[in-house]
Amino acid sequence: MTETNISPIILNCDNVVGQFRGPFGIIQPVNGISLKIHPGEVVALAGESGCGKSTFGELITGSPRKILHFISGTIKILDFDVYRTDPEILRTEVKAKIIAYVPQASLESLNPVKRIKHFILDVVKQRTGKIGNKNEVYQMARDHFKRLGLKGNIIDRYPHELSGGMKQRAVLAISTLFNPKLLIVDEPTSALDVSSQQLLIKMLYEMLEAKIITSILFISHDIATLRQICTKAVIMYAGDIVEEGSMDEIIENPLHPYTEALIASFVAFNPDDTRTKLKSIPGAPPDFRDIPQGCRYHPRCPEMMAICKSEAPPIFNLQEKGRIVKCWLYKDKNV
Ligand SMILES: Nc1ncnc2c1ncn2[C@@H]1O[C@H](COP(=O)(O)OP(=O)(O)O)[C@@H](O)[C@H]1O
Ligand code: SF4
Ligand SMILES: [Mg+2]
Repeated sequence: MTETNISPIILNCDNVVGQFRGPFGIIQPVNGISLKIHPGEVVALAGESGCGKSTFGELITGSPRKILHFISGTIKILDFDVYRTDPEILRTEVKAKIIAYVPQASLESLNPVKRIKHFILDVVKQRTGKIGNKNEVYQMARDHFKRLGLKGNIIDRYPHELSGGMKQRAVLAISTLFNPKLLIVDEPTSALDVSSQQLLIKMLYEMLEAKIITSILFISHDIATLRQICTKAVIMYAGDIVEEGSMDEIIENPLHPYTEALIASFVAFNPDDTRTKLKSIPGAPPDFRDIPQGCRYHPRCPEMMAICKSEAPPIFNLQEKGRIVKCWLYKDKNV
């Protein structure tokens, strides 16, 4: 393969550590995460609530809330080393143009007293530093909305005039105005009913097909939703990535005992089946202020061995399957 045939990695995270620091002390929900996303990949970041998914997503943006600190590691977005790049360049060159981030509970980001189009003006100004001709911005937004199967006149509405599903799709449309390569969406379907979830997934597919975006990092606790669109799955437990592989392999043959329990907790995978529910996994995730020694999953793990209590497993690469798993059970299969 020649140099020009090698696709650039859009997102390359290496050993990222992130901490919340406040009156409650220090907690570290991102505990050395490495993750690569290539063009064309639709990656699921899955795991129970509280395992650190949103914290990691926020760190990727390079401008986390004050309470959240990037401690160490590297996050590269194409050639931009996020925490070693001038914030102004990050704002104008990287955000919106290369990555777009739609945080959890993003519906609340729409100001109730502003029409959608005025919100769009704010976004364009923030990302480009100027607006120029407002009518041109509105027309550009209308055309973009229409390309995504939404009515152009939605931009003239107030948020309260739109349903939850439509608001969420409007937020996604606004986030992709500049055709970002990577779209990071955090629990975008959680607040929606089943039919609105389907419309949102369809919209993501259409964005990929129309090459408005090239890759997605889809953060969710909901395996049933992730399975509908993701090609690769990354499973997080208590701040660590514990398994990674193709979505199909992870669902059909989960290796890590936690992944197995997570998959089994979904009684059905049919997205049209409203009985699809998350059953609880036995035990509870650890408190980040009191992380168990050894493997973080050992107090809940049915396969626990003596070593698991004292030594944290490293990541084992199972080359024959193109998968990684952080569990002592796979020590002899490491390549
Ligand atoms: N603002 C905050 N201050 C302190 N701790 C927080 C804050 N936000 C999240 N956390 C803690 O960080 C951990 C990971 O949270 P989060 O990344 O939101 O998990 P997930 O998205 O997987 O549900 C949780 O234990 C949560 O309580
Ligand atoms: S390392 Fe041990 S405790 Fe941890 S998941 Fe594997 S078998 Fe279970
Ligand atoms: Mg979250």
